[in-house]
Amino acid sequence: MCGIVGYVGNKIAKDYLLDGLETLEYRGYDSAGIATLEGDTIRATKVVGRVEQLRKEEGQNPHVGSVGIGHTRWATHGGVVTKNAHPHHDMNEEFFVVHNGIIENYEEIKSFLLSKGYSFYSDTDTEVVPNLIAYHYSKTNNVTTAFQAALETLRGAYALTMITTHEPESLYVAKLSSPLAIGVADDELLVGSDALPIASRTQDVVFLEDGEMAVLNQEGYKILDIETKKSIERATEFIEIEEADGGLRGFDDFMSKEINEAPATVRSAMLGRLRVEEKLIKLGGLELVEEQLRYIDRIVVVACGTSYYAGLVGEYLLEEIAGIPVEVQQASEFRYRTEPLSRSTAVLVVSQSGETADTIAALKKLDGSGILTLGIVNAPGSTLARMTDAGVYCHAGPEKAVASTKAFVSQVTVFLLIALHLSKTYKDYEKIINELDTLPQLMEEVLKNSTDIKKLAEKYSDSKDFLYIGRRYSFPLALEGALKLKEISYIHAEGFAAGEMKHGPLALIDENFPTFAYALSSDINEKTISNMQEIKTRGGKIIAVVDDKNSNAAKLADDYILIPKVSEQLQPLIGALPAFLFAYYAAKKLGRDIDKPRNLAKSVTVE
Ligand code: F6R
Repeated sequence: MCGIVGYVGNKIAKDYLLDGLETLEYRGYDSAGIATLEGDTIRATKVVGRVEQLRKEEGQNPHVGSVGIGHTRWATHGGVVTKNAHPHHDMNEEFFVVHNGIIENYEEIKSFLLSKGYSFYSDTDTEVVPNLIAYHYSKTNNVTTAFQAALETLRGAYALTMITTHEPESLYVAKLSSPLAIGVADDELLVGSDALPIASRTQDVVFLEDGEMAVLNQEGYKILDIETKKSIERATEFIEIEEADGGLRGFDDFMSKEINEAPATVRSAMLGRLRVEEKLIKLGGLELVEEQLRYIDRIVVVACGTSYYAGLVGEYLLEEIAGIPVEVQQASEFRYRTEPLSRSTAVLVVSQSGETADTIAALKKLDGSGILTLGIVNAPGSTLARMTDAGVYCHAGPEKAVASTKAFVSQVTVFLLIALHLSKTYKDYEKIINELDTLPQLMEEVLKNSTDIKKLAEKYSDSKDFLYIGRRYSFPLALEGALKLKEISYIHAEGFAAGEMKHGPLALIDENFPTFAYALSSDINEKTISNMQEIKTRGGKIIAVVDDKNSNAAKLADDYILIPKVSEQLQPLIGALPAFLFAYYAAKKLGRDIDKPRNLAKSVTVE
């Protein structure tokens, strides 16, 4: 979703602004813009479409100022048209603002400003902000005071960056519930809605906290508490950011690249942690809370979307291997739920981006509760990584396609490592450790055989609906498989526990409603096969994912995908790949925009 950049320094601002916006493209957006101080005025260039178009447009009349702001917009209030793209300005074009988040009381503010004679040109909530600052400036003649006064009125969530003709050497920033980072380099200060755009210039970063604003200029940065107006001292921290790999390395798109990176992702998540010789799992990120972990008798996993489904796999793993009761909740529900949590409960958030608004809000709800908070996060230095007491990074590297694939695999790997780490007496402990070590090679075999999955996906791509079923460890895979198919191919898909079929979904089945069934070896696989039989009896077509080509499941299915046999606890890691590839090839056959499916954003930074 929306991305923000800002620059103050001795170089031309637009170089950082445009490069930075490109780095933030992964978040998903529909329009982009920059504004810079040019002499004693501010000039903005905005486009609907990609940063590449913004570059072209800017090239016609290059920006040369050395103070500026930029934005990629994912529309919430107002359609995708140039007038709604950021930066937004007040009616006299003296204050320009970029904003990430939602101003919940914008209508109230707008009516007030209209009554004072202010006028508006866009349909956005953001436009009230520069006008409100202008209003306060007209009363105080002081930019800092005007900015502060405006912020005090705003309700909702924001990361804001502002430039003004009244203080042309400064950049103003503020944060409430949406992340904002300031990079401190030689002779320049860089702003980003995360640390990724900043990383190309410096790794010394300061993160604003909620309720803080800062003034940036050639002399440095000054942080202030918005409410008390007191200044806050905060030194920079050195952030390790994995170099974003911009290249497709010969792949057609990021989704196929990232699916193919899944085995490397598992290796990377295990590196230095899985000690096969010593039969040990070492998790440095949990060392600090090792003592507290001994008293934990329940874990609540909180996440959204694919990360939530990884959490459901984690539930099975932690309960079976570590013997700890686990409950998994969607962050959007957890945040608004009234639920008693005992001090012996730990809350574990799972997030690829570390910036998902609902997951952040869920953690915030626990402030001051004394509950131990843990994280399985991919993006180092992200908000969630910083908010949790301890955690284990996924180390999957940047994920750019909107549809999460390699991150899911890495999250499940980390769950498995944590479960093994916390287990004391699990009977198959050594067996799983040995198998994990060789798992990436087996995953590579599935990827090598992707042509067969491609043919199947193409064969079924004209279906309007799809059902995904599985039991136990394959149940979250069914949910995740259905999500992946719907989000990138737009084919309607539902995931169900196979045992639930007779409780409703079976009514959907006919010859036009195919089923993607996980029928992998386990002591309950015969039960799934019975469910498949019930589907066949009603004329439904079945694609089964099997690990034995002579199994009853393979015989019963219309088509099957064969994957290597592994212990049931490892099946989600290898079993996710056929679902990812199936969705990918179906979407490709249908000519979808694979990496940027309609209506979706990579990083969901608003509620
Ligand atoms: C689906 C997908 C989303 C994310 C969800 C949570 O392919 O990518 O469902 O999993 O938005 O995002 P993170 O993991 O960044 O918190």
